[in-house]
Amino acid sequence: MQSVNDRDNANFTEPRPVRDSISEMSEIVLPNDANPLNALLGGRLMHWIDLAGAMAAHRHARAYVVTASIDHLDFLVPVRVGDFVILRSSVNRVFQTSMEVGVKVWVENYRAEKRHHVSSAYLTFVAIDAAGNRIVVPLVVPETEDEKRRYEGAARRREIRQAESALRSGKRS
Ligand SMILES: CC(C)(COP(=O)(O)OP(=O)(O)OC[C@H]1O[C@@H](n2cnc3c(N)ncnc32)[C@H](O)[C@@H]1OP(=O)(O)O)[C@@H](O)C(=O)NCCC(=O)NCCS
Repeated sequence: MQSVNDRDNANFTEPRPVRDSISEMSEIVLPNDANPLNALLGGRLMHWIDLAGAMAAHRHARAYVVTASIDHLDFLVPVRVGDFVILRSSVNRVFQTSMEVGVKVWVENYRAEKRHHVSSAYLTFVAIDAAGNRIVVPLVVPETEDEKRRYEGAARRREIRQAESALRSGKRS
């Protein structure tokens, strides 16, 4: 495994296309996933978002990953028991040891044959080796227009995350 400073190493693994990381996960909402009004619990959806995001990160990095952060989440429409939840994820951009993954979630009601956007999330995963040391992640290559847009957006979102993190540490000290 490459250490944290190996980005310039000539033997470093070649960049990989975004499409290699694309992952999809589907769930049927069961009573155990819902509140007493039969609506999906937000916490359960957050768990599925984390798993779907981790799949894309693992596929890209081909290494262990940990979740460093999840950005703001909105739940746009309610999801009911019996609905299908579809989660699609891919790596938006790689930095050094971290990568931003986007996860988009839809609810599908097969009786009404309708699909609605439920949530979109940006997660940051950090790649580690078996001993828990951070490792450099191969760069990702955006190919489609959407992938290029997400790639550009990821740099801006990282700046915002870092500014907010600095603000929080300032408040704590
Ligand atoms: C995430 C973690 C590995 C970062 O380690 P660290 O020693 O703080 O490392 P650094 O501050 O040097 O940052 C390392 C990388 O993580 C990124 N990072 C750290 N904290 C972050 C955060 N809150 N949000 C987004 N990225 C973050 C940094 O930008 C850096 O990325 P880069 O290498 O691509 O430039 C560490 O905090 C950790 O292990 N956290 C627990 C993770 C976990 O267990 N998650 C499961 C949920 S409990």
